[in-house]
Amino acid sequence: MIKKMLLVANWKMNPPSIKEALELVNGYEKFKSLNDVSLIVAIPYIYLADISRLKLKNVILSSQNLFYESREPHTGEVSSLMLASLGVKYSIIGHSERRKLGESSSLISKKVKEALKNNILPILCVGEEIRDESGEYMHFLENQIGESLKGINKKEIEKVTIAYEPIWAINKNEENAMGPSDIHTMVIFIRKVLGKLFGIEMAKKVKIIYGGSVGPTNAKVILENGETDGFLVGHQSLSLKNFEGIYKLM
Ligand code: PGA
Repeated sequence: MIKKMLLVANWKMNPPSIKEALELVNGYEKFKSLNDVSLIVAIPYIYLADISRLKLKNVILSSQNLFYESREPHTGEVSSLMLASLGVKYSIIGHSERRKLGESSSLISKKVKEALKNNILPILCVGEEIRDESGEYMHFLENQIGESLKGINKKEIEKVTIAYEPIWAINKNEENAMGPSDIHTMVIFIRKVLGKLFGIEMAKKVKIIYGGSVGPTNAKVILENGETDGFLVGHQSLSLKNFEGIYKLM
């Protein structure tokens, strides 16, 4: 089975105005479309309704978060039902910048479940904060994946994309991203962890993408040697030129 590659833009808390958000997404829409790549953009909640009205053809909408319930009263939260009603197809869940604000893996597992219930495809972020010589980060990652996917069954797992984002490599220059052979090792490791949880056949179907300082100059070597199913791109997705540069390499 040939898996479609994913290129996900994570705008984070950018850009500062709806005008710039519309310009950026209209720019993405003009990229020459590649059949084997899904171009996904994770947009701040506040811009999603306006952008959904554009009915874009090449760009798939994602949120950067969602709440773990749809019906109870929760002031200030946004549910997966609301997102689905706008045609949002994906949601980033458990980004390290949200984990840092206090989201635990057990809370994140509730969000993954809630997203799947309402047909939003989760892009689950995992990754260690630091690397230690003894390899403790591998245990950390295995636990983080297990806890974040608690309650997800074998049938559901293929709808989940894992975004491996080592925290130490996020928001740096491209030369400080993880190297392709280390990415390859981590992709194999994550697939093994998924295999233990869901069986190897299901684990093979899960897309594993890399995030952390991906840009037009390092994307090619990572694609050639990293064995990933795509990228989650933060700051470089705010530059049309750089983001198109990555897209064209896929
Ligand atoms: P970066 O961010 O590409 O700016 O490192 C990636 C992310 O945090 O998703």
